[in-house]
Amino acid sequence: MLLQMKGITKAYGGVIANKHVDFSLKKGEVHALVGENGAGKTTLMRILYGMETPTDGSITLNGKPLQFSSPADAIANGIGMVHQHFMLYPSFTIAENIVIGREPRRFGFINQFRAISEVAELSRQYGMPVDPRRVIGDCSLGVQQRVEILKVLHQGAEIIILDEPTGVLTPLEVKELLESVRRLARSGKSFIIITHKLQEVMDVADRITVLRDGEVTGAVDASGTNVDELSRLMVGRDLVNLQRKEQTPGQPILELEGITLAGSGSKPVLDHINLSVHAGEIVGIAGISGNGQSELLQVISGLAKPDAGALRLQGKDIKDASVRQIREQGLAHIPEDRYQWGVAKEATVADNGLMGHTDRYTKYGLIKGGKVREMVRGWVERFSIKTGSLDTKAQHLSGGNLQKLIVARELEHRSPFLIAAEPTRGVDVGAMEVIHGELLKRRDDGGAVLLVSSELTEVLKLSDRILVMYEGRIVGETRAEEASEERISLWMAGGKRQ
Ligand SMILES: Nc1ncnc2c1ncn2[C@@H]1O[C@H](COP(=O)(O)OP(=O)(O)OP(=O)(O)O)[C@@H](O)[C@H]1O
Ligand SMILES: [Mg+2]
Repeated sequence: MLLQMKGITKAYGGVIANKHVDFSLKKGEVHALVGENGAGKTTLMRILYGMETPTDGSITLNGKPLQFSSPADAIANGIGMVHQHFMLYPSFTIAENIVIGREPRRFGFINQFRAISEVAELSRQYGMPVDPRRVIGDCSLGVQQRVEILKVLHQGAEIIILDEPTGVLTPLEVKELLESVRRLARSGKSFIIITHKLQEVMDVADRITVLRDGEVTGAVDASGTNVDELSRLMVGRDLVNLQRKEQTPGQPILELEGITLAGSGSKPVLDHINLSVHAGEIVGIAGISGNGQSELLQVISGLAKPDAGALRLQGKDIKDASVRQIREQGLAHIPEDRYQWGVAKEATVADNGLMGHTDRYTKYGLIKGGKVREMVRGWVERFSIKTGSLDTKAQHLSGGNLQKLIVARELEHRSPFLIAAEPTRGVDVGAMEVIHGELLKRRDDGGAVLLVSSELTEVLKLSDRILVMYEGRIVGETRAEEASEERISLWMAGGKRQ
């Protein structure tokens, strides 16, 4: 065995994130680590990477006991980690991002020429193509993920930890990434990969360890299991399959006519978008991210002003309205990037829950704290949000639990119009079912929902109507009953305009 973790326990105050966890890794193996949100996956890997000290337990590498006090120690022992959220410098080039901290220097300056040739060589050696001179901020997320991996390879990693590496990637990028992982494993590198997408697990892993509530509930060979068994091991029950009820949509709630946003390039980022979402309807926008979806949501929510076109919410012109005015006119928003727009990391769970609800909970200038806590406690229950207490800082929630908190807070508005952007990113299969159920309920109750998701299965499952965006335009539209996955995929890839 290359690596062995034995009896690992980690407590944060009263919260036990890992309980006597045993975990092992063979050389050349791809080992998937799965489990519900808050099960302790990231914590276990942060311990292995020297970011956290275990309360109890031991780690041995090649039979030698190890004790890391920082990631630098882990790196020195050939262990690298790519985090749940990218940690690259957007204004630096690919080469700079890869060599940073161990850059070749000449007379005290970074030797750019050597950095570039080193990275080009690395990229060739591992069959992961990148242009070392490109600035990270201009690269697709798929390329950024590749850079993260090249960076740990450049650090000399033999064991590579990937924490939810496919969350933001397109299907093609996922395929390429998993192929690279398999190829690197064949050449002797060992991987630990965390993901909520069980099909990916089946595609890439040799072995699978399942965590639930901090404990190992199973360690199996991939060849001897399947997606259903895995999800049972994870959530401890079978999942139901939700069905959308027949329903005739009502009045238009959101209307866009000829919305155009010029952007800085030669082509407009939004090109004459016509779109309406009616009461009691979910309209799904499918498309590979980066085709104008983010800008569309910025325009609707007031963060960007369109150059042409009309925009109405509940019949009222909101083209020149502020973000706040648009919210008051009836918009709630589950944002695509939860860390940038969704939460105040330093604030508590209760205070994050209050955000956007202050008016309702203020009397004579005072906040009715008890009522707020009652509301947030209700969400914790309904969405099974795993948190130490309501006074836990938001930054101490696991990724998926933070997402659930934001979804609950935005649904609480019961606003006539809801934007749900990547609503289930990073959540486990059980929580996905809960969120899907809540979105359908909002629609059944007469809400208008605009769903933007890069998961085609999610769009197909929830939407009454599906639109496909490509290069800033709507290139296809279909009713859910008539939707075919093949046709939508073709539109997504820039196939014929309808
Ligand atoms: N620094 C911390 N302080 C307090 N509690 C913490 C801290 N870090 C993690 N936790 C708690 O430990 C538990 C496990 O969290 P962890 O991030 O390991 O979960 P996870 O399995 O990675 O979940 P997800 O799938 O949502 O990413 C959670 O309940 C979390 O709130
Ligand atoms: Mg995690």
